[in-house]
Amino acid sequence: MKSTLIRKKFFDFFAKHNHTSVPSSSLIPAQDPTLLFTNAGMNQFKDVFLGKEQRTYKRAVSIQKCMRAGGKHNDLENVGFTKRHLTFFEMMGNFSFGDYFKREAIRFAWDFLTKEIGLDVSKLHATVYLTDDESYDIWNKEIGIPTERIHKLGAEYNFWQMGDMGPCGPCSEIHIDRGPEFGCAQCDPSCDCDRFLEIWNLVFMQFDRQSDGTDLPLKQTGVDTGMGLERLCSIVQNVDSVFQTDVFA
Ligand code: GLY
Repeated sequence: MKSTLIRKKFFDFFAKHNHTSVPSSSLIPAQDPTLLFTNAGMNQFKDVFLGKEQRTYKRAVSIQKCMRAGGKHNDLENVGFTKRHLTFFEMMGNFSFGDYFKREAIRFAWDFLTKEIGLDVSKLHATVYLTDDESYDIWNKEIGIPTERIHKLGAEYNFWQMGDMGPCGPCSEIHIDRGPEFGCAQCDPSCDCDRFLEIWNLVFMQFDRQSDGTDLPLKQTGVDTGMGLERLCSIVQNVDSVFQTDVFA
């Protein structure tokens, strides 16, 4: 499956679930002095999450051009050393602004990956924030992932913020086990090797981080997700690294 079809399937899936399709914004974030380059799909929706801006929709889907070569999310040092890191990439994301939350976000991601894309269910693992028992139970009891494939991790892995300030919250990631030939004989999604590839990050927006580090609760919770197009292509196209996908060819 080529990247053009993956993009189309992504938009079609979320349109079917009443999401408004929003074009990628510029790599230079408009009116945001906290950010040099757009580093995530949620950047253009920052003020919507903060309750400072209203849109005509409560659900959105986008494929955002992202640059991670400095600042909070800096992948520059990893490029060339792993099979998965890029400084420029396309991030597929669905968003909820005071609409659905954890249950629906997890269900959408799972259905897209397993039913629309057809990934091997037995290779998929989920991670959740250490204290997020709600997401843990959704993955285990509703989606049916066995407990040995659900990993509770700390803030370093499962708490997402766009920068030093702004919207943030606990997150839950979906990883695929590419097998020991890609890295360690025994490890889990917290390992830096290429065995476990993070495909999709589901952020449960709950706080507005202040410059002094305190987290104020947002007026309404939301969902912000990010999935690397090139990473998903590397799995679907069964190639060794993101550099061998049709996006690069
Ligand atoms: N905003 C979600 C992510 O970048 O992973």
